Amino acid sequence: MTLVTIIGARPQFIKAAVVSHAIRRIPGIREVLVHTGQHYDDNMSAVFFQELEIPEPAHNLGIGSGSHGAQTGRQLLAIEETLLREKPDCVLVYGDTNSTLAGALAAAKLNVPIAHVEAGLRSFNRSMPEEINRVLTDHCASLLFAPTDLAVQNLIREGIPQHAIHRVGDVMFDVALHFAHKAEQQSRVLTRLDLIPKQFVLATIHRAANTDDPVRLKNILDGLEQVARVIPVVFPIHPRTRVILEKQGRLPELSNNTPQLKVIAPVGYLDMLMLEKNAAVIATDSGGVQKEAFFYQTPCVTLRDETEWRELIDSGWNRLCPPSNPETIRHTILSARGARGNNVQPYGDGTAAEKIAALLT
Ligand code: UD1
Ligand code: UDP
Repeated sequence: MTLVTIIGARPQFIKAAVVSHAIRRIPGIREVLVHTGQHYDDNMSAVFFQELEIPEPAHNLGIGSGSHGAQTGRQLLAIEETLLREKPDCVLVYGDTNSTLAGALAAAKLNVPIAHVEAGLRSFNRSMPEEINRVLTDHCASLLFAPTDLAVQNLIREGIPQHAIHRVGDVMFDVALHFAHKAEQQSRVLTRLDLIPKQFVLATIHRAANTDDPVRLKNILDGLEQVARVIPVVFPIHPRTRVILEKQGRLPELSNNTPQLKVIAPVGYLDMLMLEKNAAVIATDSGGVQKEAFFYQTPCVTLRDETEWRELIDSGWNRLCPPSNPETIRHTILSARGARGNNVQPYGDGTAAEKIAALLT
């Protein structure tokens, strides 16, 4: 059988790292990897292919950035052309980005079955572009790979037939386990940034709700500056956030005013894993980073109003901090140091990728 896999954004490369390898071990499946080009900087794309030994994409559609409609529309057009050429038996999509939705729509219109990795996640906030992408993709898909029990419940509540839903676990847990040793062996990030384990905070910010709202973004940066006066903060800056801060002229001032706020370029996965594992606290609005904090038992503060990964809040490993004022952000991050949660294992046993590959045949 021929399977076309659509990827385009950083977290999708990371998820595909384990799934693609598992698929390619199964005789009789030909996987055609398609990169939409949504993320294109070397440190947002190429670094992951190289470090995680992801097979070279058969097609790079080179779509790049744009408004939601333009980006998704151009992806849809190019993916449709690729599907007409490759004639797949199934299209595999990951997560909730515009590349996910474009892949699902292109396949649905051509009557090609769709498999969705990370199905059933819900923030219940329809103003988030990702929520629309997830809901629509799940309702186009015929094979839904749910990471958690909560995700399964969400899908059932929306009327998705139970036989289409497979609770396989979370592929990001597989990736974290698989690359843990390589990261320990190869990453020099702690030395390079002069960091002492458990004596720094790691921060990442890129959600549109935070970056595109000047008040929320200012609150977050002011909050991080306050934290950095107490404990170093490492802030690998996402290109969306960098572009906005450059426009506001705030970028140079950030590190100059507070040298212990270390604003750095996005790092590769192996360095990220070491930063997450050794941080005292992680402050983030990323979906993937919230889970990785839990994998390493690092307390997490989520700078959002809600999260799809509800089980991390319920178990005490993560706390929500809507970025409404810098003082609350400072207090929540500093007081999370040393916090622990309950002994839970919501993300499976590290074999999600193998289960997915087996179910695809
Ligand atoms: C996208 C996803 C988001 C996901 C995130 C992962 C959508 C709607 N959003 O958000 O769900 O969490 O990826 O990181 O699909 N840019 C660069 N270089 C790049 C890529 C982007 O400079 O390689 C800049 C461009 O100015 C671009 C902006 O970042 O306009 C936003 O990129 P885009 O891919 O549209 O959305 P993300 O914020 O990355
Ligand atoms: N990540 C990385 N380098 C960075 C920031 C994040 O390798 O500088 C990894 C992180 O470890 C996780 C994934 O990127 O595996 C999360 O992606 P992102 O935060 O961009 O998107 P989201 O998960 O929110 O969709």
